[in-house]
Amino acid sequence: MNISLAGKTALVTGASRGIGRAIAIALARSGADIIFTYNSSPKDAEDTAAAIKAHGQAVQAIKTDVANEAAITSLFQSLDDSKIAIDILINNAGIIMEKSTLDTSGSDFDHLMGVNLRGSFLTGREALKRMVMRGDGGRIINISSDLGFLGRESFALYTASKGAINALTKSWALEFAPHILVNGIAPGPVDTDMLDINNMTPEWRQKEEQIPMERIGQPEEIAGLAVYLASEYSSFVTGQIYGVNGGSVMP
Ligand SMILES: NC(=O)c1ccc[n+]([C@@H]2O[C@H](COP(=O)([O-])OP(=O)(O)OC[C@H]3O[C@@H](n4cnc5c(N)ncnc54)[C@H](O)[C@@H]3O)[C@@H](O)[C@H]2O)c1
Repeated sequence: MNISLAGKTALVTGASRGIGRAIAIALARSGADIIFTYNSSPKDAEDTAAAIKAHGQAVQAIKTDVANEAAITSLFQSLDDSKIAIDILINNAGIIMEKSTLDTSGSDFDHLMGVNLRGSFLTGREALKRMVMRGDGGRIINISSDLGFLGRESFALYTASKGAINALTKSWALEFAPHILVNGIAPGPVDTDMLDINNMTPEWRQKEEQIPMERIGQPEEIAGLAVYLASEYSSFVTGQIYGVNGGSVMP
């Protein structure tokens, strides 16, 4: 299957590293221009931008906090000012927290939900507003997690944020049909700084190793599905949340 995203522009949140970076590079390889955000490590962001440029695509890296409404609205305003329209949004930026519920504070809740849920909501709202105004369709892809289906002890906030992202995906798919397609990807364990497999607690590691395919995934193995969902090949697909997880969850 030869997928072309030529002429499209994608916004990928949290693409300085990990899954976001792999998705941004894969979209660029298919011909999309890329705007991406990141929250830390400018050097990583430079590396992502260089890899995108190597595919001949235009790229802008923007340091911003997705939980900050003013920052997100001003990001979209500056894209409007530059006459850049977003055709594809990948809501990827996220953080994880391993903590017993009894030790979890209100500010832990606000911090995690702020990035994972509020960040996805605000970025999605601004992208959707413009897609609706333009009237020529659009794609939103929300990055969830297998834990949004499974739940996990000591990860209540993270799993709740991803369960909520699944619900957001379905609601947006209904609200913005028929022209804007909204889907989710729920990865299983993937080899990134977030998972940090070498430093995880033995309890967590034991759970992550119970995968039928007997290995964790690589970020590039998530990116292929994102490219498909961004393309014309998925023109009859909306409101779905796809597992990419080595068989660890079979809904
Ligand atoms: N790695 C896994 O095993 C795994 C499994 C399932 C789902 N996911 C999801 O995939 C997504 C990417 O995870 P990853 O493993 O690549 O993580 P990562 O920690 O390697 O990368 C996270 C990215 O998000 C950005 N980010 C963090 N906080 C931000 C903020 N406030 N504003 C803007 N950007 C911010 C970081 O700069 C970075 O680019 C997350 O939504 C995560 O929940 C990861």
